[in-house]
Amino acid sequence: MKHPAKTGLRGTVTVPGDKSISHRSIMFASLAEGTSEITNFLEGADCLSTIDCFRKLGISIQLQDQGCVTVHGNGLYGLQPPAATLDTGNSGTTTRLISGILAAQHFNTRLTGDASIQTRPMGRIIDPLSQMGARITSERGNGCAPLFIEGAPLHGMQYTTKVASAQVKSAILLAGLYADGITSVTEPHISRNHSELMLKQFGADVTTEDTTAIIRPGRPLTAQKIHVPGDISSAAYFIAAGSIVPGSEIYMKHVGINPTRDGILRVARDMGADITLEHVCTGDGETSADILIRSASLHGTEIGGAIIPTLIDELPVIAVMAAFAQGTTVIRDAAELKVKESNRIDVVTRNLQAMGCDIEATDDGMIIRGGRPLHGASLDVRGDHRIAMSFAVASLLAEGETVIPDQDCVRISYPTFYEDLNSLL
Ligand code: S3P
Repeated sequence: MKHPAKTGLRGTVTVPGDKSISHRSIMFASLAEGTSEITNFLEGADCLSTIDCFRKLGISIQLQDQGCVTVHGNGLYGLQPPAATLDTGNSGTTTRLISGILAAQHFNTRLTGDASIQTRPMGRIIDPLSQMGARITSERGNGCAPLFIEGAPLHGMQYTTKVASAQVKSAILLAGLYADGITSVTEPHISRNHSELMLKQFGADVTTEDTTAIIRPGRPLTAQKIHVPGDISSAAYFIAAGSIVPGSEIYMKHVGINPTRDGILRVARDMGADITLEHVCTGDGETSADILIRSASLHGTEIGGAIIPTLIDELPVIAVMAAFAQGTTVIRDAAELKVKESNRIDVVTRNLQAMGCDIEATDDGMIIRGGRPLHGASLDVRGDHRIAMSFAVASLLAEGETVIPDQDCVRISYPTFYEDLNSLL
């Protein structure tokens, strides 16, 4: 049950480590030679699924307190056949990226996840990986998990994707580590580039030209020390809450602001948000900063085109901000939202409507006519972590009580979300 905030949100929050970077740190460290140390690792359920899968592939991984992880890598060819089906839980990133690795092994693997994962499109990785020589079958013939992956020799290729997807790009690049020639992936717009940056840090030969990422196989990966910056996708809930709740001032330390992920900052500023970045620092290619948010009066905006991949996971909470902004916000070119952990166009629209917002779903986004007061409602978040957190933010300014079932789903990406939010009230 959520009640409106009586005063502004004030204080400092340390958002947990970045989910995308945490996944990659485990995967690449497992394929590296030597012992990697990872700090500020996100102990969310999705990243724990990645650890679980690599342990089942024979990698020794120790998870200590406070997000410190030690991974004893076995090199590119050191994975062992798993004794059982790999379970990727709710994690699309685990499922898609690991498929690129498993396609090239000398053994076969069966891979599946929870009910949501079993409805998410895997054809987008099966098709390109098959063109490289992979043998991947969707067991039910519906292009979704469970997947059966027979290890096979892979060939380099040039591939152009229809949608900007870092998961697809990364699966192909990881397969490219094992291919017999150069592999390149060209996207319509650049998607998050954590794989390219971190693979380079581990010693792989990865280059980028505009929206094309290129990998040349043949170099071993070497163990690294990785410090994971705070997750801007988790910071987004406080950027939104701090902006819309009058009298707020929230400080967040060490948040990743990689330009392929910072669309939320650009859009929030376009809407009139008061955001200050301090202590900007770049290490190993990933840039981070401390972020200060003060409440501001927001207005509507238009969001579409190349910015979409840089804020795809933040669109639910941006829709919530738009509901409290004056004027109309149009979100377009975001049909990908339909194939996330839930159909986020549908779920955001229905829940905001239930709270009294004037919002309409379109084929590739939403039109939100903001500025009406919202009221509490009984919501349906479909077990989707980002929807639960977005509507916890909406409830702060809604009149009356809001009921959010499945609240626990925030453990996927932000286990301490409610504690952190409550600490500001
Ligand atoms: C992710 C990429 C995005 C994003 C997901 C994490 C990643 O998905 O929505 O939450 O870590 O590569 P797509 O690449 O499928 O757009």
